Amino acid sequence: MIEFNSIKQEIPYLILKKKYDEALNNGQKGIEAISVSSYNNKIHEVDSRYVNLKFIINDEFIFFSNYDSPKASSFNSHDQIAALLYWSTINVQIRIKAKIKKTSNEYNQKYFFDRLEEKNALAISSNQSKSIKSYNQVKENYNKSLKNDDLKKCPEFWGGYSFTPYYFEFWEGHRLRLNKREAYEKNDDGWKHLILQP
Ligand SMILES: Cc1cc2nc3c(=O)[nH]c(=O)nc-3n(C[C@H](O)[C@H](O)[C@H](O)COP(=O)(O)O)c2cc1C
Repeated sequence: MIEFNSIKQEIPYLILKKKYDEALNNGQKGIEAISVSSYNNKIHEVDSRYVNLKFIINDEFIFFSNYDSPKASSFNSHDQIAALLYWSTINVQIRIKAKIKKTSNEYNQKYFFDRLEEKNALAISSNQSKSIKSYNQVKENYNKSLKNDDLKKCPEFWGGYSFTPYYFEFWEGHRLRLNKREAYEKNDDGWKHLILQP
């Protein structure tokens, strides 16, 4: 589930919320899974991964991750990303382009404090995406953290990312491939609406 909070009262955000409610009412599984693609300007590489979109607050989309991970290096070197949702129960794809930044330390501490300690132990004990000799070692590190670490204190290397879209495309699938595509591009006057050919 995604938690919506004072969502921005602008057309693309309102469409997104409407589609979300429809997908949810249709029993969409994994509704919060969002693919985030990044470009690492140091190694000139594009990469993608799913994350769980936790909140949409006003115009900010928020997920949590490790600040030393490969995705973090990409965001540091190039702060523009592409994000992708597909809700199969309503056959809708939402493409987003956005600028991304870290959430504040204060915000991270609060979120971490309220989270399940078992989840926090994993966040603390895992050097995300670094190789390790076995899965058993992962479990040992996790169990050590459960016993020894302060599971209420968010480590500096973990926290939220917030991205604010400047482009949305809503794609609605059609039985005869007459797919409906509408895009919204942010400019100084607001959102420019475009109808795209399928
Ligand atoms: C459905 C789904 C949700 C995920 N949610 C998160 C998440 O919220 N945060 C996160 O760090 N990794 C999440 N992951 C794992 C990431 O896809 C990825 O494996 C990990 O973040 C390392 O990515 P990186 O090496 O590009 O930094 C999720 C994976 C899946 C399949």
